[in-house]
Amino acid sequence: MEIPPGKNESVDLSVNLKHLRFRNPVLAASGTFGYGLEYTSFIDLNELGGFSTKGLSLKPRIGNPGPRMIETSSGMLNAIGLENIGIEAFIHEKVPRLANYDTRVLANFFGESVNEYVEAAQSLSEVERVDALEMNISCPNVSDGLHFGSYPDRIEEVVSRVRKVTNKLLVVKLSPNVTSISDNAKAAEAAGADALSVANTHVGMFIDIETRKPYLANKTGGLSGPAIKPIALAQVFQTSRAVDIPVIGIGGISSWQDAVEFLMAGAKLVQVGTANFIDPAATVKIVRGIRNYCEKERISKLDELNLL
Ligand SMILES: Cc1cc2nc3c(=O)[nH]c(=O)nc-3n(C[C@H](O)[C@H](O)[C@H](O)COP(=O)(O)O)c2cc1C
Repeated sequence: MEIPPGKNESVDLSVNLKHLRFRNPVLAASGTFGYGLEYTSFIDLNELGGFSTKGLSLKPRIGNPGPRMIETSSGMLNAIGLENIGIEAFIHEKVPRLANYDTRVLANFFGESVNEYVEAAQSLSEVERVDALEMNISCPNVSDGLHFGSYPDRIEEVVSRVRKVTNKLLVVKLSPNVTSISDNAKAAEAAGADALSVANTHVGMFIDIETRKPYLANKTGGLSGPAIKPIALAQVFQTSRAVDIPVIGIGGISSWQDAVEFLMAGAKLVQVGTANFIDPAATVKIVRGIRNYCEKERISKLDELNLL
């Protein structure tokens, strides 16, 4: 359902995560929004609460060989393998241009060892334009990706080491491919996370019956999009009750109605991923839709939405 932009801005959509104020609760998700700048010809970044960069590592990575993406019913599978330009290039080539925009920047990052996580966090912490660090401990498409994010003791180790080296808002992005996401959420909280992103993609597969081979060169990939929404919603509901820190809801959000569901389930903010590939203006349309809904329902503060 298309909703025209709100006539007035009487609704306060702002959200605070500790010291950090977000204009509204809608962020673009990592890996689906480049480094933000790629979307400036489609939308005004200043209308967003913020965005999360493509996952950054100490050194540039070329990612997995192709094919590395395929559409599925109600979603897509990807096995990009964390291709990125590296932290150095991000700082020199992207950050100066991001200074022109008034929106929150979450630097999504990862390492292949605890020491690499620490080093990456240190480098990104020195960048003034970066408002928050989003630590990806949950990528299903690299050999060691789930290694850090699958067990509470590993999560506690890597998050507490990173916590020691950064004063930035530290968001930990959890894996949904686990037995108990609540236990992992508690481990991240105990280790000093300021917020949790719930969650990353689900491990999935596509087989080409003509070639009789897995379609993706990586064989398996991460499932995202509407197909995972009900699962993500339940995991947001569970984690937001298990911890005291705020939860950012992610998974299949494609419309403002989806976003409102996540806010009702307990998310403080939401991230929009795959929907950006279908409509590059999905994020701003979701912001406007939430605003209109709140006006119509006479909701003056977003917290009133969290009814559960
Ligand atoms: C092509 C693609 C690349 C992604 N790359 C990253 C990444 O680098 N780091 C990360 O934390 N999540 C990454 N993700 C996961 C998304 O940020 C998000 O958690 C997931 O897609 C679920 O949200 P969605 O259903 O709205 O897409 C990627 C997702 C896609 C589809």
